[in-house]
Amino acid sequence: MRKLTIETSPIEGQKPGTSGLRKKTRTFMEPHYLENFVQSIWEGIGGVTGKTLVLGGDGRYFNDRAAQVILRMAAASGAARVIVGQGALLSTPAASHLIRLRGADGGIIMSASHNPGGIDEDFGVKYNTANGGPAPEEVTGRIFEATKRMARYEIAETQDIDLSSLGTVTLGDMAVEIVDPISDYADLMETLFDFGAIRALLSSGFEMRFDAMHAITGPYATEVLERRLGAPEGTVINAVPLPDFGGGHPDPNPIWAKPLVDLMMSAGAPDFAAASDGDGDRNMILGRNVYVTPSDSLAVLAANAHLAPGYAGGLKGVARSMPTSRALDRVAKARGLDCYETPTGWKFFGNLLDAGRITLCGEESAGTGSDHVREKDGLWAVLLWLNILASRGMSVAELLEAHWAEFGRNFYSRHDYEAVDAGEAEAMMERLRGRLGALAGERAAGRVIEAADEFAYDDPVDGSHAAAQGIRVLLEGGGRIVYRLSGTGTVGATLRVYLEDVTEDPARFGEDPQEALAQIIAAADEIAGIAKSTGRDAPDVRT
Ligand code: G6P
Ligand code: ZN
Repeated sequence: MRKLTIETSPIEGQKPGTSGLRKKTRTFMEPHYLENFVQSIWEGIGGVTGKTLVLGGDGRYFNDRAAQVILRMAAASGAARVIVGQGALLSTPAASHLIRLRGADGGIIMSASHNPGGIDEDFGVKYNTANGGPAPEEVTGRIFEATKRMARYEIAETQDIDLSSLGTVTLGDMAVEIVDPISDYADLMETLFDFGAIRALLSSGFEMRFDAMHAITGPYATEVLERRLGAPEGTVINAVPLPDFGGGHPDPNPIWAKPLVDLMMSAGAPDFAAASDGDGDRNMILGRNVYVTPSDSLAVLAANAHLAPGYAGGLKGVARSMPTSRALDRVAKARGLDCYETPTGWKFFGNLLDAGRITLCGEESAGTGSDHVREKDGLWAVLLWLNILASRGMSVAELLEAHWAEFGRNFYSRHDYEAVDAGEAEAMMERLRGRLGALAGERAAGRVIEAADEFAYDDPVDGSHAAAQGIRVLLEGGGRIVYRLSGTGTVGATLRVYLEDVTEDPARFGEDPQEALAQIIAAADEIAGIAKSTGRDAPDVRT
């Protein structure tokens, strides 16, 4: 193996966001772009010499090429071993599990999650640490610093490695171990859930669909649901991963998974349906004629997780990201569980999970997970739902109704304004920030503002501080509005407005959330001047 040292210079904008570095694929394909960032990862983690890494991605366009570059750079910088999913594939939760299972020092996941894939769409690279979770801010900060002084990188000059067959090959002194990306993960699922009960449910006439959206969960769901749990062939739809996800947007929400939602709202709907995203960490849950919001899903899972063998001993505590609805808090209160509120981004759950303070956590952005890995996990959430449905013998709608009757209902919706002018969006947030002190006591759309602040987080485990994590406006009667700029977009800015109101009146449980939230939606615009700042009269996405 010949090692080349390539002179380069810093490339602007290589700042890891909420979930790694995400850019247009063509940007990643520019000379030195990927290489600079990978070398910065090595520097940010204190070098890769002698280390064992896990490598895999969601199979999107450029996944295969990027894997070869990363392997050559790991070998040149002295890594001992890289464990790669066959075909350079690994779902995000499976990568997290593999890092933990094999005691690796960390891993690189190639994905832009739910963003579309293809040469004109998005690509991404994310570093996970030895606990299997996304690198904390401290590490991503060091990586970013390294990108700013990048002067040279090292890369091996070799042929491509054949990643299509299992086994171990060498690249210079480095071992490249190619593993089945699915079996370890599927085995883990069998330890957590009552596969017998789920199998019985699936053979009792209970019909389900899992929409893999032409992304990475296709093979995982086919193995687990169809092969190991005996669901009929065809249960998993759009099961073959494609580099451009079939031209779709692999984000499991009512907008991008509309065909599945339409099926579930139709007369002949199956009993249950779910979807996952590009890299397999998100989930959407549907019942016959009912859509379960991610926030409600999290609360239902927290209230019922003990019904699954992996959680039979109860939960140590729970956590949600700040913008996620407070339905979870109601469950925690009733069950005497500690409930933590963290900034957006799965990495903030890592310390709580590692310290054994929480077992289960989730976000409004369709992520739910537990201490079984250190990422959110789409298929895991689906299996927990199935285990609960099997155990309680209820339909999804009945389970939701029973949940609201016990805990009340938190109406919830997120309105996104995508690709808005970044300067305008920042200015709007800045104006809002300036008025925070004066909002309490004012009225907006007929509702009295109780309090307003900008969320900051002090990590109770390592004491780290995260500032400016979203603006919260609390309204009398339990309403809440949160304003935040997305940290995962690749074009302009995405303004997210999170809307919530609560009721304990059973007569209102059946209301449509957009109608139930009409007053809060009007108040959100009145307070921040959204329409004026963005020039939009309606959001692009409503979840
Ligand atoms: C990714 C992260 C999540 C986060 C979501 C939305 O999926 O893994 O933790 O909630 O993005 O982030 P954003 O900054 O776009 O609201
Ligand atoms: Zn994802």
